Amino acid sequence: MELDVLNAVLKPKSIAVIGASATPGKIGYTVVDNLVTSQYEGAVYPINPGASEILGFKAYPSILEVPGEVDMAVFTIPAKLVLNAIEECGKKGVKGLVVITSGFGEVGKTDLEREMVEIAHRYGMRILGPNIVGVLSNSMKMNASFAPTLPLPGKGALVSQSGALLIAIDMSTFTRRVGFDKLVSIGNMSDIEFADLIEWFDQDDDTTSISLYIEGLKNGRKFMEVSQKATKPIIALKSGVSAHGAAAAASHTGSLAGAAKVYGAAFEQAGVIQASDLNNLFDRSLALSLQPPMNGENLLIITNGGGVGVLATDAAERYGIPLKFAPEDVQAELKKHMPEFGSAKNPADLTGQASAEWYENSVRNSFAHPWVDGLTVLYCEVAVTDPMDVAVGIKRAIDESGVKGKPLTVSFVGGEKTEAAMQWLVEQGIPAYDDPDSAVNAMAALREYALMREHDATFTKADTSSAKEKAMKIIAAARADGRDALTEIEAKKVFEAYGLPVPKCDLAATEAEAIQMANTIGYPIVMKIVSPEILHKSDAGGVKVNIKNAEECRQAFNTIMENARNYNPAANLHGVVIQEMAPWGTEVILGSINDPTFGPTVMFGLGGIFVEVLKDVTFRVAPISEKRANVMVNEIKSAPILKGVRGEEPKDRAALAKTIANYSNMVFDLIDEVSESDANPVIVYEEGQGVSVVDARMILKK
Ligand code: COA
Repeated sequence: MELDVLNAVLKPKSIAVIGASATPGKIGYTVVDNLVTSQYEGAVYPINPGASEILGFKAYPSILEVPGEVDMAVFTIPAKLVLNAIEECGKKGVKGLVVITSGFGEVGKTDLEREMVEIAHRYGMRILGPNIVGVLSNSMKMNASFAPTLPLPGKGALVSQSGALLIAIDMSTFTRRVGFDKLVSIGNMSDIEFADLIEWFDQDDDTTSISLYIEGLKNGRKFMEVSQKATKPIIALKSGVSAHGAAAAASHTGSLAGAAKVYGAAFEQAGVIQASDLNNLFDRSLALSLQPPMNGENLLIITNGGGVGVLATDAAERYGIPLKFAPEDVQAELKKHMPEFGSAKNPADLTGQASAEWYENSVRNSFAHPWVDGLTVLYCEVAVTDPMDVAVGIKRAIDESGVKGKPLTVSFVGGEKTEAAMQWLVEQGIPAYDDPDSAVNAMAALREYALMREHDATFTKADTSSAKEKAMKIIAAARADGRDALTEIEAKKVFEAYGLPVPKCDLAATEAEAIQMANTIGYPIVMKIVSPEILHKSDAGGVKVNIKNAEECRQAFNTIMENARNYNPAANLHGVVIQEMAPWGTEVILGSINDPTFGPTVMFGLGGIFVEVLKDVTFRVAPISEKRANVMVNEIKSAPILKGVRGEEPKDRAALAKTIANYSNMVFDLIDEVSESDANPVIVYEEGQGVSVVDARMILKK
């Protein structure tokens, strides 16, 4: 149903332009002119109260006077006139509105924007925009925008939150040889947002990949959900990742740009491939729109130049697909198509005297070999070959190999002739780049896509309803007590309910209770003051460690209570925690935030200087599977410390991953109650020895 409504803006059978103008230079003129130039085949109805004909079309004073049905209305009238015109569109039965007009949320007029959406929804209409360039579709021959022309035809769709950037991308599709079927400007996203378009493109037969330029998402969870389900590759370039950039993005679109690390984490979890910059977005979009994923780690490179071969080898390592030597039989085949002094290892160097025929034969023989998961062919323009002959040979070899489902990327370095050859290759569905680095990066994107598709597809959060019930009781009791933070012991009880390994502990209100509990837990023990008013327990002299017997326990109890009373006479002292003393190991920390875009989000890192100075932390949006928690454990820079360096035993990373996953369930379940929490430190022991959450903190929402 929803998708049907979106057809109105992406595949409309008829278009009205409200604010169409006969005056060249006006946006209302350009949009009608563009529909003519792009040879749009549906009906076009210019709406203008003062004109009878515009660019050969009969014009109407109001949409209500149009005789036929109207699927889509493009708005090019000033903002103050928009509401009334939308009401008329509703009465007319228009389905989709493309509001080019600026002057809404981006300049603080959020009420006007909201009202516009309310009216549209009342009539079941959806809005693209406002503050956009429009919609362009090659397969629809529709340039419903004020961008100069339809993009170079291609198979992908691109959605941009910046209008100016969309126009720039549109025009550069020709010089970069990267075509798109559709370009959509999404602007303020008052109604239709990225998630809607991803869903629509995923079912559209004319779209093979979905590229996004994102400044800030409105609903991060919905974006993740839809992206996870999508069957086509999604590539995103997120801007506003620096603090200054974020401020610029916020003022530009009126939306908030989220923290770079959280966006990166969410993209990874949602199976969205990231682009590092605009060039990279083009490179990756081209490959993902034309080629299948790389379903294994063996990349073979064939070249006629040692230099580009080395550059590509470096790039392969940098982008996570390091080269391995090809097996003997692959080498033997390759050797047949190179001189004595060539190299059949990997990269296979056919040498500068390589003919188009050598290229063709070596590609034909290697591409079909089961060891090869992906092939990158590099060519430097030399006088002994014509680039077009090489291109044609590569294409023929691939076709004749009969192999389907394996990716190929190409890089030709040279002059005008190589440009023409690459243009031809792209038209044949083979992504071709003028830089070996780009060809390898594009292959890396195809590898990332394959890995993402394997990852966690079946993950669903464990049922934690009984843990949640216990937690809610503890939280309710603290609230009833007028508090907005749990005491350490309460927090630990909540953590424990979620399966987090906390040391044995209990709360002693009297000296006698303390001794009795210590005897039950077993020495040595740690003793800490429990008071909602004393957060920094050590500063208050409220912590004693390594208590070895009943006498030390008695003394410690009294000293701690006295120190606390002196530190803050008004403090409400609940007593002293008697806690099993956890042996020391490697310190890590877990924390949680409620991200404005993605909601409950978990942070993990090594403790001490690693978090404070090096900021060596990683994030994922909760809930997190154990498998993904394991990725977190292994992706921080200081991961080798957990793997065991310099003769140290490896640490229990499996137990740590389980702890992160359980912690994420807790953070997810309690997001409406808890504003932040942390487990700091968590001690990780050697493999098989588990972990211990030594300290726990939980602040409630006010
Ligand atoms: N229905 C239909 N047409 C109407 C109308 C109505 N109710 N009221 C007025 N019009 C006509 C006008 O008479 C005019 O036609 P004309 O040239 O024959 O006189 C036409 O609609 C446009 O109105 P005008 O007042 O001339 O506006 P404009 O062309 O100067 O500006 C916008 C209109 C939408 C372009 C402008 O308000 C705007 O928002 N510009 C920024 C757009 C932008 O950059 N968006 C993308 C950002 S990335």
